[in-house]
Amino acid sequence: MRKTLIVYYSWSGNTRTVAKLIQEMLGCDLVELQPEEPYPNSYEATVEQAKREIRTGHKPTLRTKIEHIELYDVIFVGSPNWWGTIAPPVMSFLKQYDLSGKIVIPFCTHGGGGKQRVIETIKSVCPNSKVLKEFVTYGGRNKDLKEKISIWLSEIEKQVQGLKHQ
Ligand SMILES: Cc1cc2nc3c(=O)[nH]c(=O)nc-3n(C[C@H](O)[C@H](O)[C@H](O)COP(=O)(O)O)c2cc1C
Repeated sequence: MRKTLIVYYSWSGNTRTVAKLIQEMLGCDLVELQPEEPYPNSYEATVEQAKREIRTGHKPTLRTKIEHIELYDVIFVGSPNWWGTIAPPVMSFLKQYDLSGKIVIPFCTHGGGGKQRVIETIKSVCPNSKVLKEFVTYGGRNKDLKEKISIWLSEIEKQVQGLKHQ
């Protein structure tokens, strides 16, 4: 693969599990997004805050700084499904960094609602990126999670190889 980075946000660890499995399999760089102000520890309070932020389009300031994003040409972007869409720190990342011309590969974990608008939101915020097939899973403890990620990654690697020759 080309120079690859995984960027994700995770509140309760599921998206982190997926991100780390991808990293193990590809051996690429990994960045966890941290907002300047962490979300509350309470689920209910986080759900309420997220609802407000998503409704108003609030993009939290990120504590995480990514050096030399221009060096990467493949970026995996991971988010939990929050209210049917990406978590606000992921929106902050997508708005703050220019991913034009890069290959973007979304992944998402959810609590039963599936991907809902997660992938289409990433696509709409990255109109100048080539967005490849996503990986979507319920929670982060699925027993065949590793195998599913591995199958998905081999498809993705073929697509990326194909793009190289365009
Ligand atoms: C603020 C908030 C909003 C959520 N909204 C949804 C939702 O709309 N649909 C859904 O399927 N799951 C929803 N969930 C569940 C998470 O998507 C699910 O637990 C996910 O795997 C959490 O990822 P994480 O452990 O990386 O934070 C929500 C969870 C939180 C905290």
